[in-house]
Amino acid sequence: MSDIQSFRQAVESFISARGWTPTRFGRTVAGDPLFVFDLREGREPRSDTRARILKAMQEFGDGEARAPLRIGVAGLGNVGATLVRILQKDGAELTKKLGRQIVVTAVGARSRSRDRGIDISGLDWFDDPVALAKSDGIDLFVELIGGEDGPAFAAVKAALEMGRPVVTANKALLAKHGVALAKLAEDSGAQLGFEAAVAGGIPVIKTLREGLGSARVAKVFGIMNGTCNYILTRMGNENISFAECLKDAQALGYAEADPTFDVEGFDTAHKLSILATLCFGYEIAPDKIRVEGISRISQHDIKVAAELGYKIKLLGIAQRTEDGIEQRVHPAFVPKGSAIAGVDGVMNAVALETDHVHELLLAGPGAGGPPTASSVLSDILDIARGTRVPPLGVPSDELLPYRQAPMRAHEGGYYIRLNAKDVPGALAAIANRMAERGISIDSVIQRSDLSAKAVAPDGSPTRTVVMITQQTLESAVRESLAQIAADGFIVGEPQLIRIEKL
Ligand SMILES: NC(=O)c1ccc[n+]([C@@H]2O[C@H](COP(=O)([O-])OP(=O)(O)OC[C@H]3O[C@@H](n4cnc5c(N)ncnc54)[C@H](OP(=O)(O)O)[C@@H]3O)[C@@H](O)[C@H]2O)c1
Repeated sequence: MSDIQSFRQAVESFISARGWTPTRFGRTVAGDPLFVFDLREGREPRSDTRARILKAMQEFGDGEARAPLRIGVAGLGNVGATLVRILQKDGAELTKKLGRQIVVTAVGARSRSRDRGIDISGLDWFDDPVALAKSDGIDLFVELIGGEDGPAFAAVKAALEMGRPVVTANKALLAKHGVALAKLAEDSGAQLGFEAAVAGGIPVIKTLREGLGSARVAKVFGIMNGTCNYILTRMGNENISFAECLKDAQALGYAEADPTFDVEGFDTAHKLSILATLCFGYEIAPDKIRVEGISRISQHDIKVAAELGYKIKLLGIAQRTEDGIEQRVHPAFVPKGSAIAGVDGVMNAVALETDHVHELLLAGPGAGGPPTASSVLSDILDIARGTRVPPLGVPSDELLPYRQAPMRAHEGGYYIRLNAKDVPGALAAIANRMAERGISIDSVIQRSDLSAKAVAPDGSPTRTVVMITQQTLESAVRESLAQIAADGFIVGEPQLIRIEKL
């Protein structure tokens, strides 16, 4: 970049970060209303004009760096109220660390009168998150409402459009609008932080964007939903069903009244789509993820997995392949001795495989008010320090169009549980269908003590048969299962769980 170009860029980002017009900057700082337009045409300013502008920018910057950073928080629920509490309690310590005061000056939620255990009496109140985002009384807008569209999107967009920095914990919003919002932030010169949107308190976004900024990531995978991990852990430790564990998770506040989003894997998919973009530099594509949840996992699956030396975990996995990016969310058998298998209960973990660092595992609390608020705070501190990085790791214009690898090309071992008719020849017919597709069976397990007692519609008794395959193509497994179902030797839908070699 030439000297004049870099000077122009510095001036333009200075202007947009403050929401100024070029004319205002030219008049008040350069003493020439048309200065910025001349600069855009590539015309050099006079050396005394240039010196005056550089000095003014420096003084403004220093002044702003010392002035208190005024924060507006929209959403005072679990995360928002905790954030305000931490800022009110630890404000003096943070000021010492930063050399700059951080103060919450404005807040908003639906109900003004609800007791949230925080003192909001001296703060400006806004019913409308967009009005809060645009308020003159704040320098940074924090969105903790949630939801992919609606008020959260409108408010974040409004703040970024005026060049105001934004911090959000909203993965649904990022998964749907992340690229557009990143572009908006880049165009207006605003920062956009979303550390809390993936894996709560684990600093995985910063690790990818900065710590591993120069690394080439081959694969990212992890446990990114505490509700599912809690349920699977309890199913593994105690002899209780999915439904019972879910009820307990709801009673403990780990699961929503409508748990679909968590237990069917969509929440993990949102987080995975954001991580995949940071890892591989492709546009965010949550709709291109194969998603399977944990609601069909039975005690039979858990026990056979344990006997074979595995645990079942809901994993989100994204990796580069020759055919494009493979992204999938599903329950998986993971070896008991692997690091990820040791991540139990509501804990989350994200593993990264990179060229130079090789394997890295980040584990910690993936949700809850304090861990999530801590990640929000980390973004706020970065912004207060003036750290600038493209929100998605690379400038949004340089993100590649998403190239999806077909799932059918996935290769691995499979656990297959079938409810087979207990009639002569059924097992042999099933094994033949597998053999026709070149699938090698490692072991066949029949456990009458674990089997569901079912009767086929034609009155035949059934028994549960488990098969473990060797490495095979997913397409071969799916085609042979379709053929086996068409032959009429099984009842109900087979259970298929991938075995991950980690
Ligand atoms: N909770 C976690 O552990 C966690 C972890 C990671 C990320 N996150 C993300 O953090 C965000 C907030 O989560 P949360 O658990 O704190 O949610 P929450 O407890 O449900 O709080 C949501 C807040 O938004 C307010 N709100 C809702 N609709 C509004 C509207 N139209 N206008 C103004 N305010 C509105 C609510 O007001 P009222 O209180 O008056 O109803 C409430 O204070 C979400 O994006 C979530 O995905 C949460």
